[in-house]
Amino acid sequence: MDKAVAALLLSVGLHSLGAAALDNGLAITPQMGWDTWNSFACSLNETVILDAAKKIVSLGFRDLGYEYVVLDDCWSAGRNSSGYLVPNKEKFPNGISDLADKIHASGLKIGIYSSAGTMTCARYAGSLGYEEKDAAVWASWGIDYLKYDNCYNQGEEGTPKLSFDRYNKMGKALNVTGRPILYSLCNWGVDGPWNFAPTIANSWRTSGDLSNVWDREDVNCPCQEKEGIDCKLPGYHCSVMNVLNKAVYYPSKAIPGAWNDLDMLQVGNGGLTDEEAKAHFSLRAALKSPPLMTNVMTKTDAPTLSILQNTAVLAVSQDPLGSSANRIWRYYVDDVDSNGKGEIQLFSGPLSGGDQLALFLNAGSEDRNMNASLVDIFWEDGADGTAQQIGYSWDIHDLWANRMSNETANAIINGMASGSNGTMNMTAMGGARKVYSQVPLPSSSKELMGSKVGSVKASGTVTAHVKAHGVAMLRLRQQNNKDEL
Ligand code: GAL
Repeated sequence: MDKAVAALLLSVGLHSLGAAALDNGLAITPQMGWDTWNSFACSLNETVILDAAKKIVSLGFRDLGYEYVVLDDCWSAGRNSSGYLVPNKEKFPNGISDLADKIHASGLKIGIYSSAGTMTCARYAGSLGYEEKDAAVWASWGIDYLKYDNCYNQGEEGTPKLSFDRYNKMGKALNVTGRPILYSLCNWGVDGPWNFAPTIANSWRTSGDLSNVWDREDVNCPCQEKEGIDCKLPGYHCSVMNVLNKAVYYPSKAIPGAWNDLDMLQVGNGGLTDEEAKAHFSLRAALKSPPLMTNVMTKTDAPTLSILQNTAVLAVSQDPLGSSANRIWRYYVDDVDSNGKGEIQLFSGPLSGGDQLALFLNAGSEDRNMNASLVDIFWEDGADGTAQQIGYSWDIHDLWANRMSNETANAIINGMASGSNGTMNMTAMGGARKVYSQVPLPSSSKELMGSKVGSVKASGTVTAHVKAHGVAMLRLRQQNNKDEL
């Protein structure tokens, strides 16, 4: 059996064999792209979208795999007399079909938004009862992606079956069009979509809307992780830590073609420190949450670019194995933030080529050294598997060690990517993207492996200095792994 296939079967576990993700062949790795909502809300229009698309191409995002440009809420002007949705003429004077052509011509794909209710969350026409008409019109415009929300759902929720049936209707309608349309559920985790959505959708939101904040008590997102996983209210204004702590219970539900979606990225939107933005981006990659950028593309600054284009982290997100990392442990610490909270966590999980991810999260308010034994890092392999893994020697690679310099990022932003720095850099990115699909990855590539920072074996521990509200993201590779090195 092919090694990659064998590894994949191992990672999804025998219980999952036979359970297939939505069979549309899409999102085999978590979908990447950009969405209008966090930065533009209802002020989206053709210019905003084409300007963003232009930057996604010229700044090199497209070539790294960020391919979907998603029009979120507020694009529509209701229905025509035949019951078909029509775009808002002021916002889209040339229509959405024309916009789709332009987006396609630049090598990108286009997404749209609706709600499985009578209205969208911003109170535009919803798709409940119009599934086939809406899917047909989107397909006729050339739409490649649907984000499908949960507002005004007429009370058709409360049991997984009710939610499944309502969302399944649209899934079927999309399939009927014959056009491959990525199906992204946005029901905020209501009724446990990780249980009912994998067979009908490519991704599902795990909780309420993510705020642009690291951690904060918020009455609108009342469900704290300490209350367990039975929180009924999806909430909104949820912090990075709140969303993370709700999503750690079902990593195994994520499989190629069907992903847990922890909501879009807030990198570059001003609410997170650089360290927090790196941590947020890293954790999304580890948990295989689709990386959808939401920053104002035309104002991308150097630190934002170098986070979103960290190829070593993206390679974890897009790893061919498609296996979400597990949280192995979590401890509360004394150095707390203004909410009286502070905690540290270890995540780990397999990567292609026999590599292993180890991610330390320090959500305390002080920098600290963190460490973990190989037994912890390979905990999910079971007793025999762990014993086998700790018998090897492992090289440790820091995936943030080769973050692009501000100088290089600015050269790209200022359109000077043809100079020595820019050229080198863009070449490296192209190369890195190509190897996402190869198993194993060549360890010679710094763009993928970061930098080697040490090694460990048997009873040794992996140690990292982790800044407050930060992570250390490490890739372990067996020293005796001679494959394609
Ligand atoms: C929310 C959704 C957001 C955004 C918004 C639009 O329900 O979670 O991501 O799409 O609706 O109104």
